[in-house]
Amino acid sequence: MANTKILAGLDIGSSKIRVIVGTVDDQKNNINIIGVGLSPSHGIRKGMVTDIDEATSNITTALDDAERMAGEPIHRAFVGISGTHIEAYDSKGVIAINGQNAEITEDDVDRVLEAARAVSLPANREILRIIPKSFSVDSQRNVKYPVGMTGIRLEVEAHIITAQASAIKNLDKCLYQTGIDTEEVIPSILACAESVLDRKQKELGVVLIEMGATSTNVAVFEEDSVIYSSILPVGGEHVTNDLAIGLRCAIDTAEKVKIEYGTCLPDEVNNREEIDLAQISKTDVHAVNKHQAAKIIEARYHEIFMMVRDELTKIGREGMLPGGAILCGGAVKMAGTVDLTRETLALPAQVGFPKDLEGIIDRVDDPSFAHLTGLLHFANRYGSGGSFLDFDFKKMFGNTAKWLKSFLPS
Ligand SMILES: Nc1ncnc2c1ncn2[C@@H]1O[C@H](COP(=O)(O)OP(=O)(O)OP(=O)(O)O)[C@@H](O)[C@H]1O
Ligand SMILES: [Mg+2]
Repeated sequence: MANTKILAGLDIGSSKIRVIVGTVDDQKNNINIIGVGLSPSHGIRKGMVTDIDEATSNITTALDDAERMAGEPIHRAFVGISGTHIEAYDSKGVIAINGQNAEITEDDVDRVLEAARAVSLPANREILRIIPKSFSVDSQRNVKYPVGMTGIRLEVEAHIITAQASAIKNLDKCLYQTGIDTEEVIPSILACAESVLDRKQKELGVVLIEMGATSTNVAVFEEDSVIYSSILPVGGEHVTNDLAIGLRCAIDTAEKVKIEYGTCLPDEVNNREEIDLAQISKTDVHAVNKHQAAKIIEARYHEIFMMVRDELTKIGREGMLPGGAILCGGAVKMAGTVDLTRETLALPAQVGFPKDLEGIIDRVDDPSFAHLTGLLHFANRYGSGGSFLDFDFKKMFGNTAKWLKSFLPS
């Protein structure tokens, strides 16, 4: 008989807090979504808690919504975060193999990853994820999984994602107050990748761009592995701020103009077309030019994509990724974003929608839910268990090599 487990994810965003509950049975790998909850996010800025009480209350609202819809209590969740306090860098580890017949074991993989992680980490930083990019066994490079191979020297090149430790502790505190145990904290871009990228894109080479409210996350994949990631300190909120200044209107009005009339293709807007702000605001009653609004929007989106291009240039991948650019996050819903991306990055581009889901998918069929649904894919792929009560991540993945193996094709 199929064994069904329940998984939950919590996306702690700067504009929205989102909660998802899904079931998965061990015979079918698709996730069946049974509950979704949403709340505005007031006590969180750039992925960091700024007001514990407000953040706790917003998380509780979203959790209650999701629990009510799912008809299941949530005790544990995979938590996704974004924000400029998250940083990534590459590291190397080297160890000597001295076991019987110099055969590499899972313990050796643990040791070499430990060596890569043992670089001097600044105080107040915490490692969220260590991602092996490739191993070398003696002089043989690009080994995907070295266990069972023979050699005397094992090397790893790893990509390490860290976060500000105090930011994680404060978030934990909020979650504890809502009665939730954190299964694991996942950088949002890795969760998005689980949700919107397919294996072929990751093998060929692809850049994933997640544009949220306060930051834009970028990750490059090649040969099925993350080769680079970074966080840019700009997002949809900056576009709104630019509009508020440029059109001389309140932030709330600017947000409405952006969502209802915005495009980043000013050439497609008649330059005599006006927007009557009185239709969408009680305080702003003047008219603004739609073409001018589009020019303001285009300028900021163009700047963000130029920053992404600079990131690709840094790693020698500018215009060089056959899988193209895949876009997700709320800010990519702006009309014309795909065209502007294609033009600025000189790559094929498309919006990534959450995939491989069943159940109430109409609630999450949106690029701003990629992070959230990705948390469930993440939980399903790397975590396991029967229910929230007996789910024990450490028991399942007590050793890093087992965790690493779960990344590999079966
Ligand atoms: N239809 C739309 N057109 C343009 N922008 C939009 C649209 N819908 C939402 N946005 C913008 O998307 C942003 C929110 O995206 P998202 O929900 O991914 O952010 P978040 O996860 O709350 O924030 P962050 O990831 O930065 O912490 C806001 O700036 C919002 O204005
Ligand atoms: Mg987000």
